[in-house]
Amino acid sequence: MKLVFATHNSNKAKEIQSLLPDDFQILTLTDINCLDEIPETAETLEGNSLLKAQFINDHFNLNCFADDTGLEIDALNGRPGVYSARYAGEEKSAEANMNLVLSELQNESNRKAQFRTVITLILNDKTYIFEGIVKGKMSTEKRGTEGFGYDPIFIPEGQEKTFAEMTLAEKNQQSHRARAFEKMIEFLKKV
Ligand code: IMP
Repeated sequence: MKLVFATHNSNKAKEIQSLLPDDFQILTLTDINCLDEIPETAETLEGNSLLKAQFINDHFNLNCFADDTGLEIDALNGRPGVYSARYAGEEKSAEANMNLVLSELQNESNRKAQFRTVITLILNDKTYIFEGIVKGKMSTEKRGTEGFGYDPIFIPEGQEKTFAEMTLAEKNQQSHRARAFEKMIEFLKKV
């Protein structure tokens, strides 16, 4: 079965492909020649992942899935959330985003936060949603050089290292994205 992953990132697609039985063929947006800018205008992670998956389903009539991830900080009422990529502006700078979060939390003792990934899968015109969460807290300074985005300022629950101080394998064992994808993969193995 052909299944489109609404991303241009072939590494992400290869990773999912390697976890699925051989009868699934994962295609990227590049593979299906989708060069359109897919709207991400919803106000929730659920809404954005649905918009992306629906766009592919409507325009290409293919089974597909899309993911959307956000960092949700308690003391900021769940922000940056769906705005995580562009929290400090449209240039989508990870450094600027982290600086903004750290300054907003400067005198805040409640540092609880979570990363949340939502995947929407559209399979034979039915919609399924999978969620992966990793709880943790925001550090007071940036630490580590691995990973991307907010990794240098996020410490998963019960641990001391930030995500950016872990290897990719260590992070993948517990990450929000890995958890959401595991759920979808378990579901797909049974269809
Ligand atoms: P996306 O939905 O995967 O594109 O994620 C949106 C934004 O959330 C990214 O641009 C990052 O700022 C942030 N983000 C998502 N996943 C992670 C992660 O695993 N570590 C750190 N930041 C992340």
